[in-house]
Amino acid sequence: MSARIIDGKAHAAALRARVAEGVRGLARAPGLAVVLVGEDPASSVYVRSKGRATREAGMRGFEHRLPADVAQADLLALVARLNADPAVDGILVQLPLPAHIDAAQVITAIDPDKDVDGFHPVNAGRLATGLPGFVPCTPLGCLLLLRDVHPHLAGLEAVVVGRSNIVGKPMAQLLLTESCTVTVTHSRTRDTFAHVRQADIVVAAVGMAGLIRGEWIKPGATVIDVGINRTDAGLVGDVDFASASEVAGAITPVPGGVGPMTIACLIRNTYVSACRREGLDVPKDL
Ligand code: GUN
Repeated sequence: MSARIIDGKAHAAALRARVAEGVRGLARAPGLAVVLVGEDPASSVYVRSKGRATREAGMRGFEHRLPADVAQADLLALVARLNADPAVDGILVQLPLPAHIDAAQVITAIDPDKDVDGFHPVNAGRLATGLPGFVPCTPLGCLLLLRDVHPHLAGLEAVVVGRSNIVGKPMAQLLLTESCTVTVTHSRTRDTFAHVRQADIVVAAVGMAGLIRGEWIKPGATVIDVGINRTDAGLVGDVDFASASEVAGAITPVPGGVGPMTIACLIRNTYVSACRREGLDVPKDL
């Protein structure tokens, strides 16, 4: 193995400690409301971890569990109540939602200034145009890890594999803001290999276990693996870690890479929301 392993757990713990320190300086505890519809086991695990991280940062967690067959109108009514609640700085509706719910309509109903997931179209537009808003937590976590490896990202060739609204698209916007030269590949790309092979930075977010192998990677490249795939061999990423870590310069493991950063960034965004709502300056080095 030649690659440096990027320790997402340690980065996330440090970020959470910085946020907890900031929270201690506030006159009131920031509040994060998490809404879970149904009993999807993976979502339940995520929601529990979010609740724990919220409390550990000195924030208030408000958990709302609704039955899988909840009417869309009732879910929208809850979102409206949370929008109006002054104790709530951040609102997160856990995805995926059941098929009978129009997820886009629910996301759009969240007050953009409480949308700590950064999924609201207003926040997507703010990110695309360089206005302050909320950046989705997973790509933000990836950027923080990348910045640690590359203090100067400008001019680097970055390839994002996957074009989801949650990761791929906002990741591309963030890298563009950092002045990388950005390529996004997807299921209709003719030759993803040829693009990845040129990249100084690869962000893999397609949800295909082990798709990206060592021979795809340019020697010395930095590889960020967003994939969380449950297989018979356990939890694996979109990158074949064994072969890629022989070639890459730095690489995130799965688990212990991007995953812990997502929750840390959610806590960060909630703290930022509380600062803005209190009219306080947001610390720059978060
Ligand atoms: N489901 C998977 N990842 C996420 C996330 O970051 N936010 C929400 N709300 N749901 C998710």
